[in-house]
Amino acid sequence: MSLRPILETRAAQPHIEGAGVKLHRAFGFQDPSELDPFLLFDDFRNERPEDYLRGFPWHPHRGIETITYVLAGSVEHGDSLGNTGTLGAGDVQWMTAGSGILHQEMPSGNTKGQMHGFQLWGNLPASQKMTAPRYQDVKGTEIPEVIDDDGTRVKVIAGGFWGKRGLVDGIAADPQYLDVYVPAGVRKTLPVDTYRRAFAYVFEGEAAFADASAPQGVLLEKEVAGQEVNIRDLSGDRTLVRFGTGDAINVQAGPEGVRFLLISGAPINEPVAWHGPIVMNTQAELQQAFRDLRNGTFIKPAH
Ligand code: FE2
Repeated sequence: MSLRPILETRAAQPHIEGAGVKLHRAFGFQDPSELDPFLLFDDFRNERPEDYLRGFPWHPHRGIETITYVLAGSVEHGDSLGNTGTLGAGDVQWMTAGSGILHQEMPSGNTKGQMHGFQLWGNLPASQKMTAPRYQDVKGTEIPEVIDDDGTRVKVIAGGFWGKRGLVDGIAADPQYLDVYVPAGVRKTLPVDTYRRAFAYVFEGEAAFADASAPQGVLLEKEVAGQEVNIRDLSGDRTLVRFGTGDAINVQAGPEGVRFLLISGAPINEPVAWHGPIVMNTQAELQQAFRDLRNGTFIKPAH
């Protein structure tokens, strides 16, 4: 087993998106090769309805997938093809925009006024950028969960993990999307296939992630899984941890336990031409997308 080094830990930054939704962005609109096949990650946990109710009115997507995971409150979704639906707490929507959709995503809070959720953007390879749009909606109650003897719980939203498989399928980047809870003080080694780019995003409690290479950091442990590692400072709420190459990560939960997303996928390694919600391979394709929007030919008729 070879533990992945930590390339970077980064706090998600406050950002305003849509029609004025206050959120935190962990990455996006920077170097898309960093976490290829993933392009963007937004944390839209919010306690004040005035900070999210304006939502994300009509906008296009082409060439990507958007993955929405709701923890509290709900998101109402509607698109120009006539698809509508509501995502409630625990639910996931995996939307393959492909050749294009125009949609709106309107959050509403729970009885306490809370709206908690995440949106991840995954890139599509050239061969699938113009594929037909597709939705995979997964109810929270349908998401497989594995529970280990030490109380570690892993919800398997996409990909395979500890013998369970998420219900989302057919995605080019072969993503693994896990919601992981590790109880207080428990140390856990979690496998992540070597060919994947991987990151963790902490959203409850805190944890120390073992770093297989970094010289800095407080040395708490000399050896984890047969490897000398440093343990960096605790990573808390809204921290992105970007991992390098290896086949596992190691985490020790802090005094209140930790909950984080562990997300990984196979890099696409193609050129990226990106403007707003449209991500293609070339500038010419990008210009074509915006011409299509102006001309009303963005949405391809269903065959
Ligand atoms: Fe969207």
